[in-house]
Amino acid sequence: MVKLSVVGTGYLGATHAAAMSSLGFTVVGVDVDQSKIDLLRQGKVPFFEPGLEELLKTEVDSGRLTFTTDFSELADCDVHFICVGTPQKKDSLAADLTYVDASVAAVAPHAKAGSLIVGKSTVPVGTANRLATMLQELNPSVELAWNPEFLREGFAVEDTLRPNRLVVGVTSERAEEILKEVYAPLLANQVPWIKADLPTAELVKVAANSFLATKISFINAMAEICEAAGGDVTVLAQAIGHDPRIGSRFLQAGIGFGGGCLPKDIRAFMARSEELGARQSLEFLREIDSINLRARQRMIDLVRSDLGLDLKSKKIAVLGAAFKPDSDDVRDSPALDIASQISAAGAHVSVHDPKAIEPARRRFPHLLYSSAIDECVAEADVILHLTEWKMYREIDPSEMKTKVRQAIIIDGRNALDREKWVAAGWKFRALGRS
Ligand code: UDX
Repeated sequence: MVKLSVVGTGYLGATHAAAMSSLGFTVVGVDVDQSKIDLLRQGKVPFFEPGLEELLKTEVDSGRLTFTTDFSELADCDVHFICVGTPQKKDSLAADLTYVDASVAAVAPHAKAGSLIVGKSTVPVGTANRLATMLQELNPSVELAWNPEFLREGFAVEDTLRPNRLVVGVTSERAEEILKEVYAPLLANQVPWIKADLPTAELVKVAANSFLATKISFINAMAEICEAAGGDVTVLAQAIGHDPRIGSRFLQAGIGFGGGCLPKDIRAFMARSEELGARQSLEFLREIDSINLRARQRMIDLVRSDLGLDLKSKKIAVLGAAFKPDSDDVRDSPALDIASQISAAGAHVSVHDPKAIEPARRRFPHLLYSSAIDECVAEADVILHLTEWKMYREIDPSEMKTKVRQAIIIDGRNALDREKWVAAGWKFRALGRS
C-alpha cells in the first residue's frame, strides 16, 4: 500500500490527512508550526470542524497517522499532498504563493525517486506548470500532479470521504494510476473521475468558486431590486429555484459570502486573467465582489433606518461571528465586518457566537464578546442575526423580548421564522424583504 504525506495541516490538510488515514493509508502530516503539530499529535484539532477531532483521534491512536515538523520524515512516502494556504496578497488582488512554493522546495530534496507531489491548494492557473519546471531542477526523479479540493468548511470530513467528483491534472498515465490507487476506496463508490491537464485542473477549482460566488451575488442583487420595488427575495428565490436549470441551492440572500476561499479566489482569478491578457473575460467578477460587499453596507443602512444616523450610545447585539455556521473560521467574515463597522460608528456592539469568539477576539479585540445569548442581547436596541447557527433559530422570541430595550431584529441571513417573531411583537426586518 502506498504511503502518503500531507504538507500543511490547516482546514484542508488536517482533514485530508485524517481522512486518508481512515481509508487505511499510513500518513505523515507535516507543518512548520510546532504548536499545531504538538496539538495534532495529541489528537486535538486547532480549529472547530464537526467530526474531525473524533476522526483524528482515532487515526492517531491507530498509529497510522503521525505528525512532524521534519521534512526528512517524508523520505519513504510515495505521494506528497500539498495542502498549504494561498491567501490574498497584502498589496494586491493576487494570491500569495509563498507557502506553496516553499512546500514544494522543502519536499523535493527528500522525496524518493518515482514519488508524486500532488497540489491540492487553490492556485492561479499556470502555477502547476511553473512548479513542474522548478521540480525538474530540484529533483527530476519526482513528478507533479494537481488535484483540487472542493471541501466546504462545516462538512470537511463528509466532503473529503464522499466527494461529488475527483479531478486530477496529470502529465503521465503513471501519475493517474498512482492517484487512482490512492482514491480507490472512493472510486469504489462511483465517484466521478475527471482526468485533465494541469491548467484545466487548476481552473476547475476557481471556476467552481466563481460560479458559486456569482449565484450568491445574483440573488443579493435581486434582494436589492426587491427592496426597491417592494418584493420578497425569499419567495423569489424559492420560485426560481424550482427550475432544475437554476436549482435552489446557494440562493440564500443576505449579507453575502466570506471565508478563506470565495472572496480571495475570485480576486486572484481576476488578477490572473489580467496577466493572461484576458481581463475582460472576468470583468463581471468585479461586480460580483462589489454586490457582495454592498450587502454588508445595506445591513448597516437598515440599522440606521431603525436607530437613526447617530449610533453613539446605542447598544447593538450581534448574533454570529463566524463566516458561516458550523465553523469557527472568521476570515473575511461578513458578520464581523459589519460588527466592527458599527462599532467604529460609535455603537456599543456585543457579539455572540457558539464557536468563534476566540478567533474573533484575536482579529477584532476592541469588540465586546459574550458567550451567552442572554448576556449579549441584554438592553439591546437592535439584534442583528448575521450567522445562521441552528441555535439562533431555536430562540424563543417572547422570552427574548423581556431582555432587550427595543424589540427590533434584523435578519441578515433570511433564516429566521418571520411570522414567529412578528407574532411575539417584534419589529422584524430582513435584507430583500420589504
Ligand atoms: C467554498 C466552496 O463551497 C468549496 O467548494 C470550496 O472548496 C471552498 O470554498 P466554504 O468557504 O467552506 O466553501 O463555504 P460555502 O459553504 O461555499 O459558503 C461561502 C460563503 O457564502 C459563506 O459566507 C456563506 O454564508 C455564503 N453563502 C452561501 C450565502 O451567502 N448564500 C448562500 O446561498 C450560500
